[in-house]
Amino acid sequence: MKNETLSLLGGLSRQQFLDEYWQKKPLLVRQAIPDAQGLSSPDELAGLSLENEIESRILIGAEKGKQSQWQLKHGPFNDETYHSLPENEWTLLVQAINFYLPQFTPLISQFDFLPKWRIDDVMASYAALGGSVGPHFDNYDVFLIQGHGKRHWKVGQLCDERSSLQEHPDLRLLKNFDTQEEWILEPGDMLYLPPRIAHFGVAIDSCITYSLGFTSPSTSQVAEYFCDNVLERDLSSKRYADPSLTAQGHSGVLDRSAIQQFKQMLIEELDKPEVLSEWLARMISEPKYSDYNPAENDPLSDDAFLSFLDNDEPLYRDEASRFIFTENEDNTIALYINGSQYSHPDCPELVSTLCDELILKPSSLRPLLHNKEIISWLNQLYCSGYLYFDLEL
Ligand code: SIN
Ligand code: CO
Repeated sequence: MKNETLSLLGGLSRQQFLDEYWQKKPLLVRQAIPDAQGLSSPDELAGLSLENEIESRILIGAEKGKQSQWQLKHGPFNDETYHSLPENEWTLLVQAINFYLPQFTPLISQFDFLPKWRIDDVMASYAALGGSVGPHFDNYDVFLIQGHGKRHWKVGQLCDERSSLQEHPDLRLLKNFDTQEEWILEPGDMLYLPPRIAHFGVAIDSCITYSLGFTSPSTSQVAEYFCDNVLERDLSSKRYADPSLTAQGHSGVLDRSAIQQFKQMLIEELDKPEVLSEWLARMISEPKYSDYNPAENDPLSDDAFLSFLDNDEPLYRDEASRFIFTENEDNTIALYINGSQYSHPDCPELVSTLCDELILKPSSLRPLLHNKEIISWLNQLYCSGYLYFDLEL
């Protein structure tokens, strides 16, 4: 499995890709996803951009040397928005389309060689001729998958927070772009870009690009969760103490040994593996939109639920919910869904399958289906909307 080569990765094995390209350098793969053209359509994306709860933007403009002018609008949009757009040089961006369009689930499953928790979302961009989001860099890894039409991509220099940006209140467009490589992507082609590589894609006919983006929490975000966890555990009675104090030359100094002790107080709180994995797992399993809760399904009896599985109906995971598990030091495992820990039957294979797979095949659950506790627990997840069957009930 480790050495198996994948057409998704242009004939590289998963490990070769990870060793040579992941977080290191761009990779172009022709015909990585041959059926990408059928994934969605301009009309479907425009339809999503009318919805209140879906994050969408329209960017009008093009890079024309010093004259470049960009206008950004935030959705939800309406028919009037689309009537007022110019014929060319605009782009519609729709975020997290995989939450609303289940046809993206099998696509995401192809990237199983990467940790699922690193996946942020699939963003779609529909561009009219000449449309672009401008020269920029992102702080995350992205696989750019060409759906409809063709896009001319240039990749440039490695950027960082000191890279000069154009003056714009809302956009982070690069002032300078040093083209290193360029390609025309056609339907089915894919370009992998590591974080902070300058890139610039221009539609050479009206086209759709899907960006499978990966999240990487910053130190500030992790520190925020750490602080919240410390506050939740109320450690106010644990205090600085100095029983070995030595006489000081300066009474006005905050000396190095005091600083060292403060550091030690923080390290002690980090050095508790179970506590650390608990708040990290809650952080990592937070849904993309923090106030998100899946819509509940109409309740089913455990028998009715089981009969669907007996009939070979796959169980789908709610696409906007995040499932992860952690392995404790005592070899037990803990399950987290959407930022909360969930109790679960003592069945590690069930919990790991639930977290690894976006679609649960009844055949993989079959050995467990005689267990009433497991059925009832899965049914609870179903009723709460974390799992669903793809049929009209
Ligand atoms: C696009 O597809 O237009 C933008 C995607 C990106 O640059 O990350
Ligand atoms: Co980008």
